[in-house]
Amino acid sequence: MSEIEARLQELERLGLGRRLRLISGPQGPTVLLEGKPVLLLCSNNYLGLADHPRVREAAADAAMRWGVGAGASRLVSGTMTIHGRLEERLAAFKRSEACVLFGSGYLANLGVIGALAGSGDAIFSDELNHASIVDGCRLSRAEVIVYRHRDVEHLEWSLRRHGGGRDGQGRRLIVTDSVFSMDGDVAPLAQLADVADAYDARLVVDEAHALGNLGPDGRGAVAEAGLEGEVDVVIGTLGKALGSYGAYACASAEMVRYLINTARSLIFSTAPSPPAVAGALAALDLLRERPHRVQRLRSNARALRRALAAQGFPIPESEMQIVPLIVGEERAALRLCQEAIEHGVFAQAIRPPTVPSGTSRLRLTAMASHTASELRMAGELFGKLARRIGLDPASMVPPHSEREAAPEPAGFEAERFEGEPVLARRPGAPFDLEREGRPVPAAAAAQTAPPAPFDLERELSSGARAA
Ligand SMILES: Cc1ncc(COP(=O)(O)O)c(C=O)c1O
Repeated sequence: MSEIEARLQELERLGLGRRLRLISGPQGPTVLLEGKPVLLLCSNNYLGLADHPRVREAAADAAMRWGVGAGASRLVSGTMTIHGRLEERLAAFKRSEACVLFGSGYLANLGVIGALAGSGDAIFSDELNHASIVDGCRLSRAEVIVYRHRDVEHLEWSLRRHGGGRDGQGRRLIVTDSVFSMDGDVAPLAQLADVADAYDARLVVDEAHALGNLGPDGRGAVAEAGLEGEVDVVIGTLGKALGSYGAYACASAEMVRYLINTARSLIFSTAPSPPAVAGALAALDLLRERPHRVQRLRSNARALRRALAAQGFPIPESEMQIVPLIVGEERAALRLCQEAIEHGVFAQAIRPPTVPSGTSRLRLTAMASHTASELRMAGELFGKLARRIGLDPASMVPPHSEREAAPEPAGFEAERFEGEPVLARRPGAPFDLEREGRPVPAAAAAQTAPPAPFDLERELSSGARAA
């Protein structure tokens, strides 16, 4: 047996095997999944714009007018008019001075984080941040300090223990999802902005799951918190509510100029393709012209939550479109996923390393294009299926809400506020106070074999490796 085959078998044994499931046709509210019609309850196409006729037409027209590919990095073969147009529109929509596009949200996080923190700097990252943030932290070579989920007090404590700051030796960067991708809860942005200010740290917020739902006109959680223009960099993706592919970073004109000069994933990667950019532009126009779509997403999120709560799932009443059903064990999550598919609903099982071990789940997502009765039917189905496979809906609680309710572990106060421990850990690993409360060498936190630090002069004067 080859080493690769052995590894694959081990993943299967642990309930962590993955495979690509074939969908025929576009990403609508219902899809043909391996030939079977199912309600799609796990897409980030929140506003249902990925297959909207105006979005399709805009992408098709752009392909005829500008071609399919951008040819190279914009710093190499020039920026195209369509890129500039979307950047202007996004900056206006997000009430930001400037905007720059990236190839994807993953690339945006890699590029922005690496531009704002490097060797000798410190990054403070929420323990449930998306993998692209975790990877951005790893690649940056900065020391990574992971704070407990949405715990501003813990963040502040960590900041007190890490010198630096803009005028000191190293820079400090706080980075967070605004809506957490696997839990659907929201970061305490106003408090994070205050803390960033007080500790001379920059703040980067990833709005991937907030655009199209939160805030006035669906402008996002930063707008909802009244912080437009106050966050150093707001990142978002074109691949979710805007139904296309690509991403953006909104910031001051100075910051955008800096990102264009230093963000490696922008400098060394081909620019977003014209049809994808044009599709996102059309979607943004639709979002601005027809805000009822945002209302519809919110009311559908409420309908899904209510239907699940009626089945005994501990789902709080809210308008967040991401609803996790925490199953716990990997194989049980796969079983619930498979049973649901057989009954006509597709909600993917999400397992480690996407979520911490022991918190495998079905991550349900409402879309504006679902009907309320589809969502009610799905809620009822999940109640029935969970019970049928021996799960108690009432116990399927997000782990961080359990932790909030639980007493602090013994000795936590002392460890938190007196001793020396530095709460650095491997990004992406589950938080474990016992283990993580001890000092961890920065090199271990920075993970294995990080790349050489960005050296602007060397990179640009050598002129090498441009995409
Ligand atoms: C919070 C967050 N940021 C970034 C990304 C990556 O975005 P993209 O799919 O555009 O690469 C995701 C994708 O799921 C995400 O959830």
